Amino acid sequence: MFALLATVAGLAAFATADTATTSACSAQPTGYGPVPSPNTEAAFKTYTQFTTISNNAITPSLYQRTFTNLNASSFATSSNVYLGYYELASYDPASCTAICDTTSGCVGTNLYFERSPSLLPAAACPNPAAITLIKCALWGSPVASVDATNDGQYQASFHALIAGSNGYMKLPAQACSAISSAWSGHSYAWPTQGGYNWQGWTSMSSSAAKSTTTAAAQRVVPARYGGTW
Ligand SMILES: *[C@@H]1O[C@H](CO)[C@@H](O)[C@H](O)[C@H]1NC(C)=O
Repeated sequence: MFALLATVAGLAAFATADTATTSACSAQPTGYGPVPSPNTEAAFKTYTQFTTISNNAITPSLYQRTFTNLNASSFATSSNVYLGYYELASYDPASCTAICDTTSGCVGTNLYFERSPSLLPAAACPNPAAITLIKCALWGSPVASVDATNDGQYQASFHALIAGSNGYMKLPAQACSAISSAWSGHSYAWPTQGGYNWQGWTSMSSSAAKSTTTAAAQRVVPARYGGTW
């Protein structure tokens, strides 16, 4: 409990615009994903809407889907390049990749549902009712199932969980132009799923066309972290 209070105090200090959401048991911003009924951990894990939405999502042009409907999101480590996330108002791969297209160094995205607490968990509200967030994480390194290992954690007694996790990588020509700045000095293994072999694209053509997708992203800045990351 002391650790939690310390964390809350730390967040409040940095997220000055958003202290209303960072004190114990304060209401959290709206989640836009569907919520199972009953609203339980068990129901979240087996909720068929997540599976249906994830499996039927259209892969944006100039991207390749690298994994589908996992119950874990990509995990940031010292050997990959995490570029932060946005919350979306709908589970729309194109809205997510449109943000990637305008983010320097982004080569892929991870779109998923997250079981999240409606109140900031604390001693007085250890297991609040769940909401479902739709998160679009941006990556400057391969988005492959091998890294999709973050299958949730506890906040007090609240169990955060992931569902419908899909990975999308820019096709090699598009990835080439994006990686040149972010990847120098690194040697990553590109994913080989889906019929594309990014590993063959080690010598990049500077003329490779980058996507010019301009679809308006239904972007929601994650207010719970002060609106920036
Ligand atoms: C995710 O799915 C795997 C494979 O089915 C399973 O072993 C694991 O327990 C699941 N994780 C959660 C948090 O449900």
